[in-house]
Amino acid sequence: PFPHYARMREAAPVFHDEQSGSWHVFRYDDVQQVLSDHARFSSRLGGNDPSETGQLFASSLITTDPPRHRQLRSLVTQAFTPKAVDALAPRISQLTEELLDGIASRGTADLIQELAYPLPVIVISELLGIPAQDRDLFKQWSDVIVSQTRTGTTNENHYLTNKEMTEYFLDLIEQRRHQPGQDLISNLQSAEIDGQKLSVAELLGFCALLLVAGNETTTNLIGNAVLCFTEVPGTIDRLLTEQSLLPQAIEEVLRFRSPVQSMYRVTVADTTLGEVQIPAGAPLVAWIGSANRDERQFQRPTQFDIDRSQIRHLAFGHGIHFCLGAPLAKLEAKIALEATLSRLPGLTLAPGAHLERMESTIIYGLKTLPARWQTA
Ligand code: HEM
Repeated sequence: PFPHYARMREAAPVFHDEQSGSWHVFRYDDVQQVLSDHARFSSRLGGNDPSETGQLFASSLITTDPPRHRQLRSLVTQAFTPKAVDALAPRISQLTEELLDGIASRGTADLIQELAYPLPVIVISELLGIPAQDRDLFKQWSDVIVSQTRTGTTNENHYLTNKEMTEYFLDLIEQRRHQPGQDLISNLQSAEIDGQKLSVAELLGFCALLLVAGNETTTNLIGNAVLCFTEVPGTIDRLLTEQSLLPQAIEEVLRFRSPVQSMYRVTVADTTLGEVQIPAGAPLVAWIGSANRDERQFQRPTQFDIDRSQIRHLAFGHGIHFCLGAPLAKLEAKIALEATLSRLPGLTLAPGAHLERMESTIIYGLKTLPARWQTA
């Protein structure tokens, strides 16, 4: 998509697609404004997404505006602060080592399937107190959701998946009502805002968002990082000798191959963006992946450069909806990549590997990542 973005930033930075009725925003400053100016650009799905998935997410943080957004978000911020998340580091390391134990002696594996996918799913499942064996379900579900966002249509398979997801989460919520534990869902179950419990739709929204939305993205961050690191010769050697560079290199991956390429908004009233007038109620796509390569913001934007510092990318959004899971995603990526680089020496893509990207305009990542390394 990147050459297309570059052309659009130049020729039509705020573009009206008459066929779909959507407006597309490509430059860094505009994308930042659209993501953060919630008074002008609403996050509600409203009537725009009648799909079942839309309904499942309709009362979640990501589709709510203030004041409700602030109230809901305040219930979960504590669980995701960098400090709270750091406490998970030993467990994340242990899981990573176990996953690598399974493949290290093989010399070759699909790193998405064996590492980048299972790690975030297990971590979030444990945080929410979900039985480990159910995690294969989440993978199926998130794949269907991704394909749904690609086609924008709902077929029988989508319908069944969404029904299954809704029922699974309703059961889970019900279970926690009877037997509360130390997990996040139990906490949300008993939480009150102005003396009122959350609605079932809001509880469902939290489950769907936390269990599905954060997984695929973290998987892709890890996968995209391996791709970036193996693509530029010398990168892995440098990261092994200068370990303090890794957090910055991960920020550069987030900029260069952003796992979330686009987010939606709707205009609240008639408004202008740049020179362009946009009517009220217009659906808008903010192209994060384009903003992160805008030459107005970054020098040599098409170059992957682990020496780049203080990277003000928009990969986690900006403003009140800034990704709640960012500290967790970064910690998981750091632990997983550190261990991968040190335990899989001479890591490269498998020769002749066919790298197929996921078919989505929102999620950017690889379906599989066949890799090879030296064994003793
Ligand atoms: C919001 C990206 C991982 C939970 C967002 C937004 C982006 C994003 C761009 C902003 C949405 C908007 O402005 O409308 C990513 C990326 C991730 C990642 C690139 C991994 C590399 C996670 C994880 C979790 C998570 C691991 C869960 C633990 C959330 C939640 C929101 C959110 C709950 C909604 C926040 C709100 O609306 O206030 N994420 N995310 N994300 N993310 Fe993430």
